[in-house]
Amino acid sequence: MKRDTEIFDIIRRERERQMKGIELIASENFVSDEVLEAMGSVLTNKYAEGYPGKRYYGGCEVVDESERLAIERLKKLYGACWANVQPHSGAQANMAVFMACMQAGDKFLGLNLAHGGHLSHGSPVNFSGLMFKALEYNVKESDGRVDYEQLEQVARAERPRLIIAGASAYSREWDYERIRKVADEIDAIFMVDMAHPAGLIAAGLLKNPLRYAHIVTTTTHKTLRGPRGGAILMGKDFPNPWGKTTPKGEIKMMSALLDSAVFPGTQGGPLEHVIAAKAVAFGEALQDSFKTYQQQVQKNAAAMAKAFVEKGYKIISGGTDNHCMLVDLRTKFPDLTGKIAERALVEADITTNKNMVPFDSRSAFQTSGLRFGTPAITTRGMKEDMMPFIVELIDTVLREPDNKENIDSVRCEVNRTMKQYPLFAW
Ligand SMILES: Cc1ncc(COP(=O)(O)O)c(C=O)c1O
Repeated sequence: MKRDTEIFDIIRRERERQMKGIELIASENFVSDEVLEAMGSVLTNKYAEGYPGKRYYGGCEVVDESERLAIERLKKLYGACWANVQPHSGAQANMAVFMACMQAGDKFLGLNLAHGGHLSHGSPVNFSGLMFKALEYNVKESDGRVDYEQLEQVARAERPRLIIAGASAYSREWDYERIRKVADEIDAIFMVDMAHPAGLIAAGLLKNPLRYAHIVTTTTHKTLRGPRGGAILMGKDFPNPWGKTTPKGEIKMMSALLDSAVFPGTQGGPLEHVIAAKAVAFGEALQDSFKTYQQQVQKNAAAMAKAFVEKGYKIISGGTDNHCMLVDLRTKFPDLTGKIAERALVEADITTNKNMVPFDSRSAFQTSGLRFGTPAITTRGMKEDMMPFIVELIDTVLREPDNKENIDSVRCEVNRTMKQYPLFAW
């Protein structure tokens, strides 16, 4: 067969784009060569509907071993009692939890999308908001932190079946204990979506939500630095009292409900090549070097936030406890939208994403904010001394987002700098 030069040329160009730019998208990272190798392996050829030891296809003995290994390593990483590594993505993991815990139309409570929440936590265009009744809590305008009082008020008044903590654009630690208290009071299930800070949590740098939540979901590809995918975990409450009564009248444990909500509830055959790559990434995360890496992610984020503040930018909540930050552009550049800022930065090979800020005066298509994160540049070896330099480059672009000459000279600087931080062994 002739080589598909069309697609491999695209892959080559994307590889070049990744190598030459400064990657600041908070949800992205660069996986190791071993993670890439497992993802590109012959395991992609195998159908394995079901779970290890209970498959609907023959010949699954070998992939059973890698799926079991992925589960065991993930449990060890977070001190979990149960895990499912099959969700194809974070949204799929969340969907399975919704399926297991609620009936269509049931109420649940999550962080407002416009205040940092995720689509799958109740957006009206997502399954979560379409099939279930989404209630929301906000961050406070005064300090940009979660409004726990409002969360408690809504929880007590509406008595949702499920309460969700976790966000896509929130730079502070969570008070899980406080949310668990109100969940217990109203007999709700407490789920934490730790997709963003999962790596920092694995390294012990942020609180482990498994100590407080009934169910924890995650993606595996953000700070955790694994392949694109999701997972579900349970900690001390397993097995738990929130079983559902089946038509036969038996109470099913939450673990069984979650397993069957993933498959056959919302997915078909698991991606065994990705599951093997997850196992590789979890193995990497169990090593001491991963803690050092996460410490650097956190140090870099703090240094970057400080550099932004020193240049007159407003950071929502004033700083960061984790790997990311949300910049409100209006303080320094009242007329600059996130959309224009994102485009100008991309032209300079600095990748970030426009983001609504809490109480934004602009739409989700324009936005007044930019979200930044340090996991990817830290993987490339950058230390905190480079953060003021990166912020200086960003500031140079944002001061004159239409000045092509200016952007060209920043791009040359970016490309020259990134040559010193090699990526990919191949
Ligand atoms: C908090 C949170 N949950 C879930 C997801 C969804 O993950 P995925 O894109 O893998 O479906 C994201 C993605 O950004 C996220 O930030």
